[in-house]
Amino acid sequence: MRLADDEKAMLDGKEGPARQKAMDLLVRYGEALGAERLIDTNNVCGTMGATMPFLRDFAATHGIGLDAVFSEFSLDSAEVVEIPKVKVYSCHLQQGMDPVHAEQQGIGPQAVKLYRDGAAFFGGLGVQLLNTCTPYQVGNVPVKGEHCAWMESSAVIYCNSVLGGRTNAEGRESAGAAMLTGKIPYWGYHLDENRFGTHLVELEVEVKDTADWGLLGYYIGEVVQEQIPVLSGVKYVPNLARLKHFGAAASSSGGVEMYHVIGVTPEARSLEDAFGGKKPIMKFKYGPAERKIAYERVNSTGKDRNVDYVMLGCPHYSLEQIWEVCQLLEGQRIHENCSLWIFTPGAIKHVADQNGYTKIIEDAGGFLMTDTCSAVGRVLPKGTKIAAVDSAKQAHYLPAIMGVQAWFGTTFECIQAAITGRWSGGLQ
Ligand code: F3S
Repeated sequence: MRLADDEKAMLDGKEGPARQKAMDLLVRYGEALGAERLIDTNNVCGTMGATMPFLRDFAATHGIGLDAVFSEFSLDSAEVVEIPKVKVYSCHLQQGMDPVHAEQQGIGPQAVKLYRDGAAFFGGLGVQLLNTCTPYQVGNVPVKGEHCAWMESSAVIYCNSVLGGRTNAEGRESAGAAMLTGKIPYWGYHLDENRFGTHLVELEVEVKDTADWGLLGYYIGEVVQEQIPVLSGVKYVPNLARLKHFGAAASSSGGVEMYHVIGVTPEARSLEDAFGGKKPIMKFKYGPAERKIAYERVNSTGKDRNVDYVMLGCPHYSLEQIWEVCQLLEGQRIHENCSLWIFTPGAIKHVADQNGYTKIIEDAGGFLMTDTCSAVGRVLPKGTKIAAVDSAKQAHYLPAIMGVQAWFGTTFECIQAAITGRWSGGLQ
């Protein structure tokens, strides 16, 4: 791989051992990918620290500090090096817990201490502690053409498709190395020629609410896997929440990292634009039959209609979604056999607190939580067996990771389930 002078200097250790290891990692990674060079980035989103369940155990049993955690898990180095301040704008994605609701999440004081230590450590290095899978909802909004190095599949697909930012789905290691160097291999979605559509999807049903967009994403992801779908026939402009749920679902059932919606997303002003003048390698339709197939797949684990947990906020809820939930929930009471947890970024919770939304949720018996979610933090209300969610992504992962049944439906159906303790949803 060709290296620029500043890159060679880092690789030679002129900026200390941590940046040397970071550059060495990026060079090995880039060479494995066939990248010819690195590209500058000033926008990195990653996870670090030791709040994820497996890392909590590792840090506790090895009695190691955060320099050692970062060296081992972000720089691929058994040798512990002192971690310097980050070189470029770097944000923390989701964590493994909500420290404020640790008790509800069944998390002990030792793990909360790890969280607090990590916040002090990484905050001190200049990492922005957004603590969410949706950095674009709380101030990190890349512009079209901006080269980024992001982890988190639902954020990556949003960045590429909706914002026109350019990122591959990075891992903890490459994101950590990018934070210290401001570099990332120049390949994949950084290059114009890899951003054109491959599959044309013709919508033959109206895709209305957020759950509908999730189903659509789930169906398309299964068909196209890791390629780039182009949606035509969308009758109105979907909002942030709909595109967020669509992308999260498509990146779960397949590995989609980019899509186009004709007339909506920034690199798809026309079919010609979206496909770069080439022909799609495949065309397929999404009509009532396909929608039914997607619904049945997403709901394949739901058997028992007695719901004991309703989880909302995958990806983390926007303020608009919290406001919508509060309209459904105000003055109501959650069923005694059911819990309601809603996940959102901390910055949005701050506004929700001010607006009285947190109080509405808590008065009903629910919780508005931050930083994590049930699948990533592996946190569930005690004894949960049957969950209800309005996210196809969470319906995909929660049964697989936590061994529970999951019902998928609209936000309204989920709130009804929380109030009655019964799932009464169905395809409309
Ligand atoms: Fe976010 Fe968890 Fe879903 S981290 S995208 S809420 S699986």
